[in-house]
Amino acid sequence: MPSPAANNRILSGVQPTGNLHLGNYLGAIRNWVKLQQNHECFYMLADLHAITVPQDPALLRANVRETAAAYIACGIDPKHSAIFPQSSVSGHSELAWILSCHTPLGWLNRMTQFKEKAGKQKDNAALGLYSYPVLMAADILLYKAGFVPVGEDQKQHLELCRDIAGAFNRQYQTEFFPIPEPLILGEATRVMSLRDGTKKMSKSDESDYSRINLTDDADTIALKFRKAKSDMVEGMSYDETARPEAANLLNIYAVLKNITREQALAECADKNFSAFKQMLTEVAVETLSPITRTMRELIASPDYIDEMLANGVERAKAVADVTMRELKNVIGFLDI
Ligand code: TYM
Repeated sequence: MPSPAANNRILSGVQPTGNLHLGNYLGAIRNWVKLQQNHECFYMLADLHAITVPQDPALLRANVRETAAAYIACGIDPKHSAIFPQSSVSGHSELAWILSCHTPLGWLNRMTQFKEKAGKQKDNAALGLYSYPVLMAADILLYKAGFVPVGEDQKQHLELCRDIAGAFNRQYQTEFFPIPEPLILGEATRVMSLRDGTKKMSKSDESDYSRINLTDDADTIALKFRKAKSDMVEGMSYDETARPEAANLLNIYAVLKNITREQALAECADKNFSAFKQMLTEVAVETLSPITRTMRELIASPDYIDEMLANGVERAKAVADVTMRELKNVIGFLDI
């Protein structure tokens, strides 16, 4: 049976594990903002995903609010888009179980992120870390989302979600789940670490100097770019293989200024690394300081954030509850 056409609905999320960084902003949240114009948007705080590794409860609570503040400060409009903690909508966990019964282990064994995160400690890793991509599929399919805007690193999880949706539809000979389209948009789908241009910028990197956090002030941004790894080549040029750090910083510069890579090179090809880093600092501070300021103001008003989240939960549940009711009927559960 052919899959139903993708619809206008968007679902995406960020793990509220602190250290939200420039990669999350440029690779994901900035695109979410643009998509609000002509889509129905659900932007969750992926707290169920966060507990796949140990979390401090007080810190997790603070990080959920801080991430919600970041969404708004970056331009997500809570009147238009539903912003909500994933754990407040029980359908996510419920659907994850149902989908886990329709996901062959072989598919999960292919997931590279589990291998990276569990490392050599595979036997000690939580089952949730392994089945995490099934929960992610549930997040998307619970809303029957047509599009999922993410950075490059989530591509494999999105492919798995499409496979799970297809397998479910085939088993029950239905078109219940639309097959979602990943939206990996723009030139910053993979922002790299400031300490190593071959590694992704990441919340979990031990070195805070590897990333620009959305909470960093101007002095910290300047310091981090000053300390960012550079090379001895004269002038700035774009070569991902030979000069990964230069390529990454040039890319960040171009994206922040909304110009092409060629235009960026025209501005700075004759600059040495330290002069270029100053130019980069200026544009980064210009973009990030209003975001950081608004985030601080919002974090100081937890009541406002909680009220906004409660509204998001209500809107998310209105959709999720319908999906779960219909789905139970498809599977053959009694509606009692
Ligand atoms: P998370 O929290 O790791 O990252 C959130 C978003 O930021 C993107 N991203 C990056 N983009 C460019 N360069 C980088 N260095 C970089 N690092 C992160 C990610 O691709 C992502 O879009 N599993 C997800 C959260 C999630 C989700 C979902 C997303 C849970 N359920 C359903 C979409 C749909 C995650 O851990 O993202």
